[in-house]
Amino acid sequence: MSEIDEKAVATLKANDRGGFTVPTSRLYPYQWNWDSVFVALGFATFDRSRAWRELECLFGGQWPDGMIPHIIFRRSDPDYFPGPDVWKSGTAPPSSGHSQPPVLASVMLQLVESGGPDDENQARLHFDRALAWHRWFHRERDPDSRGVIGIVHPWESGRDNSPDWDEAMSQIVVDPDLPPYQRRDTEHVNAEQRPNKIDYDRFLTIVKFGADCGWDQRNIAENGPMFVADPGMTFILLRADRDLLRLAERIGRTDAIDEIRAWIDLIAAGAESLWNDDIGGYCARNLRTGNLSTGISNASMLAFYAGVGSAAQRERLAGEAARILSKVEFGMPSWDPDHTAFEPKRYWRGPVWAMMNFMVAQGLSEAGCDDLSKRVRNDTARLIAQTGFYEYFDPLTGAGYGGGDFSWTAAIWLAWASPDNATRAAQ
Ligand code: DGY
Repeated sequence: MSEIDEKAVATLKANDRGGFTVPTSRLYPYQWNWDSVFVALGFATFDRSRAWRELECLFGGQWPDGMIPHIIFRRSDPDYFPGPDVWKSGTAPPSSGHSQPPVLASVMLQLVESGGPDDENQARLHFDRALAWHRWFHRERDPDSRGVIGIVHPWESGRDNSPDWDEAMSQIVVDPDLPPYQRRDTEHVNAEQRPNKIDYDRFLTIVKFGADCGWDQRNIAENGPMFVADPGMTFILLRADRDLLRLAERIGRTDAIDEIRAWIDLIAAGAESLWNDDIGGYCARNLRTGNLSTGISNASMLAFYAGVGSAAQRERLAGEAARILSKVEFGMPSWDPDHTAFEPKRYWRGPVWAMMNFMVAQGLSEAGCDDLSKRVRNDTARLIAQTGFYEYFDPLTGAGYGGGDFSWTAAIWLAWASPDNATRAAQ
């Protein structure tokens, strides 16, 4: 094990709160949904039962309707805002009121395919809960069966301040009854690396709408402040559906196969409505106005991971990936550097994210774009080796931003980017 590998293991152990792992101390002191799932991949490189324990804890926050929320609040912590008193979920344990990208089934499949009988037993134990979560996504986030997955809050996408939401966010009227609030994130991280004040006013307006209607998910999708089809969510769910299907076949859950296949067919066709021929890629569509967003993001690049698009579309998107990578020292930036909305320091408006790179590179490799895939993996390894386990990185300079000693960056290093893990690499 190299020195960086050892540091990555130490980072995961230091962020372990006894069964679940916080993304980083202080800035994010609770259990976050997709963070935990990537963390499980990291733990699996040295402690497989701890990996499954992470997922078990996440399932512990599942709502009766199948949703697994984006944050689970096991204890109150003044370091983070908005906490359980703002979300008012009414659940035990308390949680946020919407979800986050469902990378879970894909990671469960990876654990099973790289493991043994114990991993299969664990997958059997948790399969129904994963299935219920997918059912929730298809029912509540695609209520009209359009074959695209909408998000009701930028936080649901995980790409909080992406320009993909700019049109929808600009139309949100800040609730005049929003109580005064104090942000905590900018006490831990330089404000230029975080969303703006107006973003937070709108984020909290959406949370208030959800809490005021008792988290009635159908009402929120139909009448809430925003509902935008997200390429990230759509592609991650489509991939996770495909992986859930493989898992079902592997563990003998043939009863679930027809239902999952129908989801796959619906989303694979519906995702085409996110193709924007003006920019040569898939992007967000505001489901209230019908408008497409105008730039290529790292979520656009997950089209390969989801296995969508004609040969011509893939070739065009691969060309855009090559152009974007030629503009930055470190890829894959979260927003096109040639677009006016690009900001290399500000969270999801430019910076590079290691776990996104992991999925992007996997898809590129599966699509036969080996050079692009290797570039993304090498850039991830260089960033982490030179800079450390930061939350995100500057695509132009490689500077580390946001939280330090970040769990999913350490996990992605161990499971994929570390040169010692070449066998696991997407290449
Ligand atoms: C935050 O607080 O910035 C988180 O991204 C919300 O999930």
